[in-house]
Amino acid sequence: MFQSNHAFFKADEGTDQSRLSEILGAFSYALDLTEGQPAGHSIRACWIGTQLAMALGLNGEELRDIYYAVLLKDLGCSANAARVTEMFAGDDRKLKHDFKLLGPKPEDFGAFVASEVGVGRDAAVREQALCNLAENGGAIMTDIMGTRCSRGADIARQLRFSEDVAQAIAHLDEHWDGSGLPLGIAGPDIHLGGRIALLAQVADVFYSAKGKDAAIAEVRNRAGSWLDPELCAIFEKLSAASGFWEELALDDLAEQLWELEPAAQYVSVDEDYLDDISSAFGRVIDAKSPYTAGHSQRVGMIAEKIAENLGMDDQSRRVLRRAAILHDVGKLGVSSAILEKPGKLDAEEWAIMQSHAAHTTNILGQIGVMSDMAMIAGSHHERLDGMGYPLGLDERSIAIESRIITVADIYDALTTDRPYRKAMSTEKAMAILQSEIGVAVDQRCFEALQVLVAEGQLQ
Ligand SMILES: [Fe+2]
Ligand SMILES: [Fe+2]
Repeated sequence: MFQSNHAFFKADEGTDQSRLSEILGAFSYALDLTEGQPAGHSIRACWIGTQLAMALGLNGEELRDIYYAVLLKDLGCSANAARVTEMFAGDDRKLKHDFKLLGPKPEDFGAFVASEVGVGRDAAVREQALCNLAENGGAIMTDIMGTRCSRGADIARQLRFSEDVAQAIAHLDEHWDGSGLPLGIAGPDIHLGGRIALLAQVADVFYSAKGKDAAIAEVRNRAGSWLDPELCAIFEKLSAASGFWEELALDDLAEQLWELEPAAQYVSVDEDYLDDISSAFGRVIDAKSPYTAGHSQRVGMIAEKIAENLGMDDQSRRVLRRAAILHDVGKLGVSSAILEKPGKLDAEEWAIMQSHAAHTTNILGQIGVMSDMAMIAGSHHERLDGMGYPLGLDERSIAIESRIITVADIYDALTTDRPYRKAMSTEKAMAILQSEIGVAVDQRCFEALQVLVAEGQLQ
């Protein structure tokens, strides 16, 4: 029987005591990375949104729906990252960050396009992007926002949230006066959760970038255009009360927010729910690039089968599968301009690309019930010869669980299309893996994969 010496394979008790808010709150830091927002944006927006909802007199399930809709408003954000990079010919994280600081008038968008599109790129690339935006700007923005909203709503459903949460997320970019996207609905037709989430987003984006006075001014400025005027009036009162901004700035705001989780007693995060949460965030990860569709799920499946072949027990395999699904969660912090680059990366771009592995360790390390798998998942680019990253671990210290994920990851990467090459045949991929045995690839893991391939289990 396969023996794991890693602690997380032994610690399967107590998951039902984990708070859903804490788990999803930790993942929300990954969403902040994708949106180019400062760490904690989703947490601060959730706190602002929850204060608004409580001031409206909401409680119980209704309040809970608002809480999660605002915390997870950016669930769909990775789904349009590659398209933003393509359409605006730039770094999606910077573009998204700067876009949120735009004024509400059409000329503000024009100024944004003039100053941000194709910066640092060839004149021809910039010219082409500008022409495309001039001709198809409206359709492109509707498409970009529509993708983000519908994908976000879908993933909320996968996370077992109500239709209200899904709808609130789907309506995030609608404006009170009907000028929003993708539906162009107005007033109370916009889900209350969507209206609260947008106000909370505007408030924190301006607060984080320019301070509380800018946040107050911007909410006031957008009352009746982007934002529900009644909510803006409540925000005005709340934000004038003593302690509001001080609390928002607290280092332990996240812990305070977990305490605010409404109806927490109804939620039990059991093993099945942890599987669903991992799969849902696997979809968020894969949506970041058109080249990685299904990658996380497939690496999870292949890793689990290798582990089964090695004799690992059921519970250990279940946890390994989650770690494998989440191995690239740190890619949410890497610009699509780098992930999608068809040519060779320069030294700086390569360093940013490599940083995804350390991001994975950091993100999972913040999630109590997943912290033990943080190193396992974040070590998938370590090599037995010590030449891998991020830590340069070698065969003395790379856990078998990481070796399994590494083999599954390389196999899937080689057998699917990438921006810089086409998918390889199984035979060629296996030959490459074989040539790396003892260098980057563990022999036992390779042999297990060989059996799976021979039995046709990976089709
Ligand atoms: Fe990776
Ligand atoms: Fe990967």
